[in-house]
Amino acid sequence: MLKNYNCGELGEKHVGREVTLAGWVHRRRDHGGKVFIDLRDREGVVQIVFNPQVSQEACQLAGSLRSEYVIQIIGEVVPRPKGTENPKLASGGIEVVAREAVILNPSKTPPFYISEDEEVEESLCLKHRYLYLRRKRMKDNVLLRHRMIKFIRDFLDIKGFVEIETPILIKSTPEGARDYLVPSRVNPGKFYALPQSPQQLKQILMVAGFDKYFQIARCFRDEDLRADRQPEFTQLDMEMSFIEVEDILQLMEELFTSLVEATVPGVRLLKPFPRLSYEEAMEKYGTDKPDVRFGLEIKDISDIAGGTDFQVFRSALDHGGKVKGICVPGCSHYTRHQLDELIDLAKGYGAQGLITVAFTGESVTPAEVKSAAAKYLSPRQLEEMAGAFEAKPGALLLIVADISDVVNKALDELRREMAHRLNLADAKLLAFTFVADFPLLEWSETTGHWQPMHHPFTAPREEDVSLLETEPARVYGQHYDVVCNGCELGSGSIRVHNRQLQERIFSRLGYSEEETESRFAGLLEALEYGAPPHGGIAIGLDRLVMLFAGERSIREVIAFPKNQNAVDMMLDSPSYVDKYQLDELNLKLKHEVLRRNDGEHET
Ligand code: AMO
Repeated sequence: MLKNYNCGELGEKHVGREVTLAGWVHRRRDHGGKVFIDLRDREGVVQIVFNPQVSQEACQLAGSLRSEYVIQIIGEVVPRPKGTENPKLASGGIEVVAREAVILNPSKTPPFYISEDEEVEESLCLKHRYLYLRRKRMKDNVLLRHRMIKFIRDFLDIKGFVEIETPILIKSTPEGARDYLVPSRVNPGKFYALPQSPQQLKQILMVAGFDKYFQIARCFRDEDLRADRQPEFTQLDMEMSFIEVEDILQLMEELFTSLVEATVPGVRLLKPFPRLSYEEAMEKYGTDKPDVRFGLEIKDISDIAGGTDFQVFRSALDHGGKVKGICVPGCSHYTRHQLDELIDLAKGYGAQGLITVAFTGESVTPAEVKSAAAKYLSPRQLEEMAGAFEAKPGALLLIVADISDVVNKALDELRREMAHRLNLADAKLLAFTFVADFPLLEWSETTGHWQPMHHPFTAPREEDVSLLETEPARVYGQHYDVVCNGCELGSGSIRVHNRQLQERIFSRLGYSEEETESRFAGLLEALEYGAPPHGGIAIGLDRLVMLFAGERSIREVIAFPKNQNAVDMMLDSPSYVDKYQLDELNLKLKHEVLRRNDGEHET
């Protein structure tokens, strides 16, 4: 080894030792002849002192060092002079006096500071990922991810789970996104799909008798990217035989609780994890992935609104809509400009407007209400509204009247926005929440078919199976989600384990017999050979690490993420390929694509 200690591990107990260290120049300071270097490696930073009285030669070399040079030094660990200790550093009580130093490799000046955590343009972070990953925050995130995965593996091993890898070149498994396709050279004209999830394979593993499976599984989905979405991401994928919904929820609660204790000990949980039905979640929070760390719950005031002559309310209700709102304490002083911002936010989510009612007085009396709608509402109706929201003096009501979907979407966003403005969400709390009792299917106006709320392999509640053909909207699925702090963390379900029922569901989804056969023959056949009752779940591992690390984007917890256009900016991928490669795959590009990239296709 070129070193016998790590920088960050040195402390008082090493005083007097001669150490050989190797790492990167984190910072350099010249002080009256002496040169101070913060030397960094994965374990942390230690201060190196180059003193001309100890070694003229080493000191001269130190003068030529620049940020991110890779160096090796040999020196003695000594206590820092009194008053120069750095309590922020683990090694802050000591320093190493260099006797010898070697430059192992110089470095160009990095395009951004490694030693400061100031914000860097995203394209630079992605292009020079190896530099960005040197930052402490990123290094800590990567190490946290490692520790979490290690803990999960050990936990599940003890619980009797077997880790099994499933192939990356598979057949399409529908999870609601577009597939990434891979052309087959040896089977001209045919394509593999990269797995959107290992769903069918893990079910088949249950048919194969493995009973308890897990995998840290790579998944690929060609969909619009957001802060919590990458085209390539990782799931903690699990499947179990002979289990019921309750078994899975309890296992997940135990796993998350012990994972938090082991990896982010200062973080708190709501115990037991709150449980909500889908309907309750939609009713109270307007979303199936609620952040339950704060209140601001949505109240339905359609009844009160129905008794008014206010045209905005009447028209929404006449069109089958709803009138709902939230009550935000302490915001009755909001200015016109601040209210306009909220109105724009609501409009951005499809609402035609936002009705604001501010209780500006010392008490909640109709006379002291500020609202454009006040003139259409009687004092009694205003009082009823205040009562419904349990409004206190200083409260601001934000009310949306529209079709249900729009009301929910807009109020969900307003609720999150106001919690953010008022700092209501406790950053040290991970509010894992189970949402269950989802309808099995939802009607899609776009396709003119019923679509699965989860995926087509989810089992309906047994008592609802007979309604599948006659009243599909009334069939509930044995499906559950885990959400945390407003983020959808994972989904799972008890699966269909019987071919006939699976075929009925495919048919309900509008698949023809041929389509069903060509897409799912493998799974359907497996179901005929003694498939056990089974179910499972998949947790978005990137999102889980993001929440544990307190980050806002999963890109901050993935070593090599892609940008918003699904491009790997460091390796410049995707890229054009040589013409002979296309020929081998029997592929031809369209003329316009060829023209854009003429040169690169001449081989
Ligand atoms: P689902 O499609 O809900 O379920 O995915 C499970 C979890 O995976 C994460 N996730 C993503 N993370 C980052 N980028 C993406 N593009 C992305 N898409 C999904 C989310 C999500 O909750 N086979 C089923 C699970 C099962 O039934 O067992 C499935 O994949 O955190």
